[in-house]
Amino acid sequence: MRKLKDIILSEGIALSGDILLVDSFLNHQIDITLMREIGLEFAELFKDSGATRVATIESSGIAPAMATAEAMGLPLLIMKKQISSILSEDLIQIPVVSYTKGGTYQLIVKRKFIGKEDRVLFIDDFLANGEAAHGAVKLIETAGANVAGIGIVIEKAFQPGRKRLQDAGYPIKSLATISYMSEGVVEFEEEA
Ligand code: G4P
Repeated sequence: MRKLKDIILSEGIALSGDILLVDSFLNHQIDITLMREIGLEFAELFKDSGATRVATIESSGIAPAMATAEAMGLPLLIMKKQISSILSEDLIQIPVVSYTKGGTYQLIVKRKFIGKEDRVLFIDDFLANGEAAHGAVKLIETAGANVAGIGIVIEKAFQPGRKRLQDAGYPIKSLATISYMSEGVVEFEEEA
């Protein structure tokens, strides 16, 4: 997606070989116009996926996933990372290891919001090692639902996430695929 790549180049900051700061438009301050266009792009890419529901993980996945759900006219399900006292009904929980933040967290949804009749389109902001996306598809399948696809806003192709998910057979599409990063430098993969 040309506009997304231009914004990454003009506003993104490559802090190192593997961390890209995108807090001016994607995960702290949010560029709403860009989010709408991201939603329309995912809706077009996954229009034949048969999705009945969009899902994401709190918090940074919510903006692009909401725009996608709106563009596709589907409900949005947010996978939570923390149990609260009001999240006590029948739950599905999947442990996820985070390399970036260290440690393990649980992905949690209420069973009543996802069922075996669902085909779920999972949307997230970044694909790095693929642990979060892997946990999300496991949760979807534990609920008895099917994965309609995986849509990623920014993929870091030099990290192992895509290969793991592709090898497992999930349809995965990214709007900007970074092939190389170092401090101050971002390079994209050529589009096919
Ligand atoms: P993985 O899921 O692909 O294995 O990655 P990992 O656990 O290492 O990191 C996931 C978290 O790190 C996600 O945020 C993701 O958005 C964020 N992340 C990964 N790579 C980058 C990057 O290059 N830049 C930025 N800014 N973030 C990155 P999270 O822990 O789910 O937090 P939240 O912001 O969604 O609440």
